[in-house]
Amino acid sequence: MTPLPPGSAIGIIGGGQLGLMLAEAARELGYRTVALAETGDAPVSAAADVLVAGRFDDPEVVARFAAQVAAATVETETLPAGLLEAVAARVPLYPPAGLVLTTQDRAKQRALTVALGIAVPVHRVAATEAELAAAGRELTFPVVVKRATGGYDGRGQAWAAEPAELPAAWESIGGGCCVIEERVEFAAEFSVIVCRGAGGELAFYAPIRNVHRGGILRVSSAPAGIPAASAAAAREFARRFAEGAGLVGIACLECYLLPDGRVLVNEVAARPHNSGHLTIEACATSQFGQLVRVVAGQPPGPTELREAATMLNLIGDIDEAALAALERAYPGRVFVHRYGKAPRPGRKLGHVTVLGTNAVEPPPARPGCEIG
Ligand SMILES: Nc1ncnc2c1ncn2[C@@H]1O[C@H](COP(=O)(O)OP(=O)(O)O)[C@@H](O)[C@H]1O
Ligand SMILES: [Mg+2]
Repeated sequence: MTPLPPGSAIGIIGGGQLGLMLAEAARELGYRTVALAETGDAPVSAAADVLVAGRFDDPEVVARFAAQVAAATVETETLPAGLLEAVAARVPLYPPAGLVLTTQDRAKQRALTVALGIAVPVHRVAATEAELAAAGRELTFPVVVKRATGGYDGRGQAWAAEPAELPAAWESIGGGCCVIEERVEFAAEFSVIVCRGAGGELAFYAPIRNVHRGGILRVSSAPAGIPAASAAAAREFARRFAEGAGLVGIACLECYLLPDGRVLVNEVAARPHNSGHLTIEACATSQFGQLVRVVAGQPPGPTELREAATMLNLIGDIDEAALAALERAYPGRVFVHRYGKAPRPGRKLGHVTVLGTNAVEPPPARPGCEIG
């Protein structure tokens, strides 16, 4: 692919904070952005040059978006097939529509990762009561039931401590096709981000350590302090995924480090990932800049971690006093990102990255404001 000339319009499908930071990165690299979002006030609207607002299943809206871009990418995988196929029919879409459709379905994504030789937690897929009962007989409890589609930030998941609890857990998340998996007694969680260019060039980021609470990512930090052999295993899984799944773009593998050093891959997102936000300030090329480069037909840029960093998510509401305390504790080293979203319990409203350390102690915040 010949690189797009500066000033070309890159299409961003989706209106969330990942789209916002993608549009910011595109501007820095000299590209325009046209975003497709469902509402006019979506976070991406603060940075995109053009916003097309409308229903994702409206062919007229999709055609209006596609007519204005030279290439396109996605900032979420929860997108209808018709939209992805219509865009891909008109301009290069990275990652390819088929990969987005696979990763948006947890059961299909698991099947793909298994087929590519990537180690995953012990699990079963169940869409019927009979399959659910079979999973209950075959798995070791406790297990977690995860909806195949539509879940995020721990939503669409329910735990069952014993087989008798399985039907209620399944019903509590709406039934339908689910992935049911054994609890992983992990020593740590971490992620590996891989970028693959249109010419097949690969670039890997150093592992990033993650801490979740209540199914929501709270803290990411680098260096991750993962044993070298485990980091190498995760990187090999990332290579298998990028090459085997035909990735052009960026992907994040959410990994579990087991006490014996083995690595299991929990899920894969073929887009920028919350755990990669610290790459904006800490790495030579951010995960967003990297995706912009690849979508624009450039090879991936350098990925090295220039400085230690800790990213804390701002969840529910933002406590300005706590941010000020953080700034006092790490003067000149605190970078706050606000997504322009209305406060709501459990909602990611922004994040803050602290440079120079991978061990930030999150400051206390008033009730309703969660920092890290
Ligand atoms: N089988 C499991 N064993 C232990 N913890 C789990 C398991 N599945 C999920 N979790 C915890 O919940 C978090 C969110 O689950 P995940 O499957 O990644 O869903 P989401 O799509 O909401 O990110 C994980 O990062 C991990 O901390
Ligand atoms: Mg996850």
